[in-house]
Amino acid sequence: MEFSGFNIKFLSKLLTVPLLSSWSYHENSEQRAKCLSLKSTLTLENTTILDVSYASAGSTVKPHGSCVPKAFVNAPLCRVQFSTKTTATSSIRAEAWLPDEWYGRFLGVGNGGLGGCISYRDLDYGSALHFATVGSNNGHDGDTGRPFLGNPEVLNDFAFRSIHVEAVIGKQIVEAYYGKPHEKAYYLGCSTGGRQGTQSALKFPTDWDGIIAGAPATDFNHLLHWSGMVGAAVGAPNPSSSPAFIPPELWKLVAGEILNQCDSIDGVRDGIITEPDACDFRPEALLCTGADGEKCLSRSQVEALRKIYSPLYENGELIYPRFDPGAENIHPGGVLMSGKFPAYTRDWVKYAILNDTEFDFSNYGPEHGRLAEDVNPGGIATFDGDLSAFRDRGGKFLTYHGRADDLIASGNSKRMYDLVSRTLAMPSLDAFYRLFLVPGMEHCTQGPGAWAFGQRGGTDGARNESSHNLLLALVDWVEGGVAPDTITGTAEDGATRVHCRYPMRSVWDGNAFGCQA
Ligand SMILES: *[C@@H]1O[C@H](CO)[C@@H](O)[C@H](O)[C@H]1NC(C)=O
Ligand SMILES: *[C@@H]1O[C@H](CO)[C@@H](O)[C@H](O)[C@H]1NC(C)=O
Ligand SMILES: *[C@@H]1O[C@H](CO)[C@@H](O)[C@H](O)[C@H]1NC(C)=O
Repeated sequence: MEFSGFNIKFLSKLLTVPLLSSWSYHENSEQRAKCLSLKSTLTLENTTILDVSYASAGSTVKPHGSCVPKAFVNAPLCRVQFSTKTTATSSIRAEAWLPDEWYGRFLGVGNGGLGGCISYRDLDYGSALHFATVGSNNGHDGDTGRPFLGNPEVLNDFAFRSIHVEAVIGKQIVEAYYGKPHEKAYYLGCSTGGRQGTQSALKFPTDWDGIIAGAPATDFNHLLHWSGMVGAAVGAPNPSSSPAFIPPELWKLVAGEILNQCDSIDGVRDGIITEPDACDFRPEALLCTGADGEKCLSRSQVEALRKIYSPLYENGELIYPRFDPGAENIHPGGVLMSGKFPAYTRDWVKYAILNDTEFDFSNYGPEHGRLAEDVNPGGIATFDGDLSAFRDRGGKFLTYHGRADDLIASGNSKRMYDLVSRTLAMPSLDAFYRLFLVPGMEHCTQGPGAWAFGQRGGTDGARNESSHNLLLALVDWVEGGVAPDTITGTAEDGATRVHCRYPMRSVWDGNAFGCQA
């Protein structure tokens, strides 16, 4: 362990203060006064300071908007709420959480879905780990696509600009408050937040020294088109008149059959499929024979499953990888296959692509996917392998994807890795880009697998050590040159599992899972 001294230095920095915080940092009148003075002293380009307040440890504050009822504050901090005009017709709303105890690190956090929602959970997480942390509303409030209608600049904020503004203005606020600039800048996000992190590395490679881009919604137009086609395969938006519709009870049957066929491929029957790509699920095993009562599927239902568990090709082009077998187990028939047309695709098509609020999704098909690809508002696709500028400035990129993600197929993260690899002519991206695949994890969090590894706020089971915490691992990589070879996740029952970086495989040795080239 030649770097253990280094790790201990970081750990002590990260750990001692939270442990003491319960008695020594409850209230600090000097910090409070310094914080409140920002209200009259801060002047920033295109920016209005809306409010400045001091929050003590263990308090809650009133969030902006209605995305969450209240926001928790663990570390005593100065909260700066601001709004930055991005063009004459658009602006972002954002907050900086500036902890009393600061170690020189800046952290920007991302959004989710079509949001719209400031991630208070991540503001709290970052500031509790002593990062000066900034999050924004991505250019509009709420988790719907309605604000996009007729507002191309709001779309631009969403597609590429809000995280950049968060970086530029956030860094200025940090310098004004602490009286010196930050030393290193980090970004943390998942889903849409993962796409935002990827977009930042592509378009604004100097904004962040280290990026965590979880379950990224890259190849965005294709992702939403695929979601729509998965929904349509089971009859959305008219499930009651579709012979292919699969009700939730039958999804339980499907999930059980998938485990039956594929759970033991990895050597352990534990309800977790380590490598969904090794699962050649055969839905025909569930065809009704007449003797099986209600616990079987019709031919149309089996055909729908064939579509869902195959990659989507249109005109010979791969649009998107397949739905991961095993991911249906989480919310049987859940988000994409509920019979309702998937909401993000619906909103995106209505408000950003067709600009037609009355569009009838019974008529949804490949032509709408192609149109979305052509319109590509704000360059939202985020499917470009040229990360050379980010790599060459010394940037470090960590990404992860749950293998039971029922919103974004995890195969797309392998596809992105391989795209970057080909584009940069690097057989392995280890030098600056690492992808961790996480068996049994749902979308960004949760699931039967060992899903807690500090990838965002609320992953309470994750230990505060860089071997078990992706954000701390990123700090070690950026500041100490020590890259994470594996990351250890913790499951809800406290069990741990080592997660492997692609293209290594997670292999059972009879005792535990380890990583093999
Ligand atoms: C301020 O707004 C102007 C005009 O929209 C823009 O050119 C400039 O880049 C903005 N500055 C920042 C820091 O966003
Ligand atoms: C890790 O650190 C954070 C921030 O200080 C703290 O809130 C959390 O309780 C710690 N977790 C553990 C498992 O020690
Ligand atoms: C819908 O509006 C967006 C900009 O808000 C534009 O890029 C797109 O081309 C429009 N779609 C159509 C079909 O005109």
